[in-house]
Amino acid sequence: MSKTTSNPADERDGNARVIIFDTTLRDGEQSPGASMTLPEKLQVAELLDEMGVDIIEAGFPIASNGDFEAVNEIAKVTKNAVVCGLARAGTKDIDRAGEALKPAKRSRIHTFLSTSPVHMKYKLQMEPEDVYEAVLSSVSHARKYTDNVQWSPEDGTRTEHDFLCRCVEGAIRSGAGTINIPDTVGYTVPEEYFDLITMLKTRVPGADEVVFSVHCHNDLGMAVANSLAGVRAGARQIECTINGLGERAGNAALEEAVMAIKTRSDVLPYWNDIDATMLARVSKLVSNVTSFPIQYNKAIVGKNAFAHEAGIHQDGMLKNTETYEIMTPESVGIKETSLVMGKHSGRHAFKDKLETLGYELGDNAVEDAFRRFKALADQKKHIFDEDIEALVDDELAHADEHIKVVAMTIIAGTGGPQKATMTLDIDGQHVTKEAHGNGPVDALFNAIAAMVPHKARLDLYQVHAVTSGTDAQAEVSVRMSEEGKTVTARGADVDTMVASAKAYVSALNKLLVRRQKTKPEALAAG
Ligand code: KIV
Ligand code: ZN
Repeated sequence: MSKTTSNPADERDGNARVIIFDTTLRDGEQSPGASMTLPEKLQVAELLDEMGVDIIEAGFPIASNGDFEAVNEIAKVTKNAVVCGLARAGTKDIDRAGEALKPAKRSRIHTFLSTSPVHMKYKLQMEPEDVYEAVLSSVSHARKYTDNVQWSPEDGTRTEHDFLCRCVEGAIRSGAGTINIPDTVGYTVPEEYFDLITMLKTRVPGADEVVFSVHCHNDLGMAVANSLAGVRAGARQIECTINGLGERAGNAALEEAVMAIKTRSDVLPYWNDIDATMLARVSKLVSNVTSFPIQYNKAIVGKNAFAHEAGIHQDGMLKNTETYEIMTPESVGIKETSLVMGKHSGRHAFKDKLETLGYELGDNAVEDAFRRFKALADQKKHIFDEDIEALVDDELAHADEHIKVVAMTIIAGTGGPQKATMTLDIDGQHVTKEAHGNGPVDALFNAIAAMVPHKARLDLYQVHAVTSGTDAQAEVSVRMSEEGKTVTARGADVDTMVASAKAYVSALNKLLVRRQKTKPEALAAG
């Protein structure tokens, strides 16, 4: 095994090309608490497009006005990728998707309907014959908007085979060019999924004229393995998300599928057009905008994915990196952490640094970030790339919020009850309140609640240090829920309490936005 193995897929055999269909903005965003604002979705879509993703599933237009607008705006700005919108098997859904996708250079409508016995009986309460008819009519209706139609049998892996073949055949005859087979509940195993795709490709008339696609959820931790098994059986599209974001345990992780194909081209002789050196950047962006932290030992993009702690491993690495490294950190865009600058560093060097870290900021944003960098340099001796990233991400995350942290003082210690005095800027007005609590965080959150009354529950409070050292910046993540809606938010500061206040206030801002959003219909898609 070698990192330099020549890739059989380099010959660019057209039959070995695997289409990368990213559903971070649709299936990923459906994950509780992972919602993104329109500007955040546009930022993610732009980077996915630049990275070489073939298809961006931008949302579920009928789900809400926000989803419709996101698909519509992404359709306007996407340069290379096909923009896709999801629709259930009804004319209203499909019309809404068709409308949202109008401005796209290239568009796809993805329509789906459950086909498994349990879904048909309990979720749809429909007879198989009616489901079959709905498959035909929905695909035909979608074809009125575009010749690029994808059909999915939801819960495909738990569908009875004869019925699945019949529906797939019907969808192909009605004009679907892509047939996606979802493992909606993450139930299958690689061998079984391989056999399922093989069976469909062999038995269904017309199967060789369409692209088969894999869509695997990670409930048993096999989403990527199952997806690759499907590709080995002849599927040529992988549906996946950045960081494996998605319902429950998530979807197949794009970065893992892409790097598995790249690194093990000897046994997975396929190719795609993803620029893998952008993976770390996109992963970080998605983590920031959703406030979903990346697990430390997450394959490819986790903090520890390329760290070698054990002495014996370090010794091997010093002699030859191939001893313990099957791919390089650079190949996925992870750069060596560098000591940046100190308080004497100038504006110009700071701007250069921002550019190397991948930030494209306007003059005002650079100026704000520079001011915060100077303040940080007064508090912290060594400033690393991670510090700059935390600082800029924090600035960007909170820039447009209605409620902002202005000032705070906390009295903490063994003597309790602890006390917090807090000033917030609420739509331009400064308000100050004081509160006690069982500990400083409780006091702080009570003071905020006194100014922004709410019934939300704090489900998760998590702190991690951005770098090493006792003067490191703290990054606090909170998850809150209110009336079945969940949001997550982050805040960063050298003072853990200030970071906590920022995260809490940011979550309340998100809940306010969610309260204002209208949901025309209750929806469910896996
Ligand atoms: O998991 C699933 O079944 C889905 C479909 C909508 C494709 O996400
Ligand atoms: Zn799904």
